[in-house]
Amino acid sequence: MIDSSQVPYAQYRCAQCGKELPLTAARLAVLCDDHRREGGDVEVGVRPATREDRHDIEDICDQALGETDVDAFGRSFDVLGQENLVAVSGGRLAGLVSLAVDGGDLAIVLLSVYPEFQGHGVGRALIRSAVELAAARGLPGIKAAISNDDVPSFSFYQRHSFVIDSVAKGLLADRYGSAEPGFSGILVRDEIRLRRSVCPA
Ligand SMILES: CC(C)(COP(=O)(O)OP(=O)(O)OC[C@H]1O[C@@H](n2cnc3c(N)ncnc32)[C@H](O)[C@@H]1OP(=O)(O)O)[C@@H](O)C(=O)NCCC(=O)NCCS
Repeated sequence: MIDSSQVPYAQYRCAQCGKELPLTAARLAVLCDDHRREGGDVEVGVRPATREDRHDIEDICDQALGETDVDAFGRSFDVLGQENLVAVSGGRLAGLVSLAVDGGDLAIVLLSVYPEFQGHGVGRALIRSAVELAAARGLPGIKAAISNDDVPSFSFYQRHSFVIDSVAKGLLADRYGSAEPGFSGILVRDEIRLRRSVCPA
């Protein structure tokens, strides 16, 4: 979950001019197929993180969250202690998915793509690898927790066959002591939990 009041960094990118934007300054746009595909996919490889990736993982967590600890599904995870897959494009870290087994499913602790790489298939490559990992481990499902303001992630996960599993109403506002502005200035109140079944490998 993102505590937006603590995160001044760019988290999204303007689809028109490429300018990087902090969460509260980002706005939604609806695009046709031709413009949605502008630039196309980048070449990206996804692999398990190694000890050498630690600094890069700390950096992406810092930009996305301001820390490496993530509260989700009613518990706390340190990204550095989880099973991490990194997306690498042009020799650079483009994105990260951090995974942990929780309640019998594979939980996405963090999914984050650097703004400059967003919209070019990096998130899709990371999700595909995470689903493959869940299948290889024989886990029945994969789940994600997002805040109610995070409309891009909500759209992204549903496009990848996740459905709403439950909503922890007011959880985030209670945690932070008030409902603070998040994506597009939407007040952050609830944790939405999404899940999709995984076919055995
Ligand atoms: C949600 C998130 C993981 C998606 O990652 P992504 O690499 O942009 O995802 P993809 O490119 O695979 O898919 C995005 C979809 O939106 C479309 N899209 C078009 N323009 C886009 C744009 N400017 N930004 C994002 N998506 C765009 C893509 O074409 C794609 O469509 P599809 O579903 O038909 O394939 C990413 O936006 C994210 O990390 N959000 C959280 C904020 C964050 O952590 N920021 C980084 C801080 S370091």
